[in-house]
Amino acid sequence: MTDTNSNAAVTYGNYLKVDELLALQQPRSEGPEHDEMLFIVIHQVYELWFKELLHELDHVTQLLDTGETHRAQHTLKRILTILKVLVAQLDILETMTPREFLTFRERLQAASGFQSDQFRQIEFVLGRKSEAAVTRFAAGGRARTALQKRYTEPTLWDAFLHYLVREGYAVPADQLARDILQPIQPSEAVQQVLIDVYRHDAKNVELCERLVDLDEGIQEWRYRHVKMVERTIGAKPGTGGSAGAGYLRTTLGQNIFPDLWDIRTRL
Ligand code: HEM
Repeated sequence: MTDTNSNAAVTYGNYLKVDELLALQQPRSEGPEHDEMLFIVIHQVYELWFKELLHELDHVTQLLDTGETHRAQHTLKRILTILKVLVAQLDILETMTPREFLTFRERLQAASGFQSDQFRQIEFVLGRKSEAAVTRFAAGGRARTALQKRYTEPTLWDAFLHYLVREGYAVPADQLARDILQPIQPSEAVQQVLIDVYRHDAKNVELCERLVDLDEGIQEWRYRHVKMVERTIGAKPGTGGSAGAGYLRTTLGQNIFPDLWDIRTRL
């Protein structure tokens, strides 16, 4: 019988499953090499934060669906705070020198953050979907099932556009019925609506600004990750099979919610 099913008193250890958690760090290098522990712990911590981010992103979508503006803003603020921690954590990994990383890098074989399904799930929620990213994972497994579900779900942007309609804005029908598998494209008609919001609607300006924070926070993580990769492996290819930093640089500077950026010149 597990602790949660028994009548045993709840303790810090059994509630948080500390024994199980501490058994999950299993270095592959001989010795093992000192820095491999940091590498494993930091990636596991990232995966836990990705889990929490997805939990909160689902919550924001729900709150937009039910028109709870302030709670949606509050949740976006939490998401942003987590993103700041995710960016700051890269500093810890940057204390590992290129040669320290080399002591165990070959043990990673083809393993790479490129294979993080939760990172892809976050991208899907934000509108950057890819069928190839789904089929990369084994059929029937947790990762594939979760990604497949998110692939067919509306994005946060779609939830936001429908929210604006409920707030009384004339979002064009073609935008409300857009193909949710496709990237979010700039729309002049949506920009007109957003300009109206920014001129007259302080409550929803706050919400828009939190979405911009989220967009900027993800972009900040991407930028800091590339710089960390450049300083750790230079121009070497990635373990995931890409060109490495060269590939990662192609993902920079892409706004997640283009309309929220494009309007700024006209405000
Ligand atoms: C020494 C540390 C690290 C190095 C050298 C490194 C290197 C790389 C490289 C070269 C790629 C490109 C794909 C490939 O492997 O070919 C990549 C992708 C990625 N890495 Fe890292 N990484 C490091 C740490 C981390 C950490 C701590 C995370 C946190 C989860 C992470 C998450 C990711 C993600 C999500 C991608 C996919 C990005 C995308 O496709 O846009 N990486 N990494």
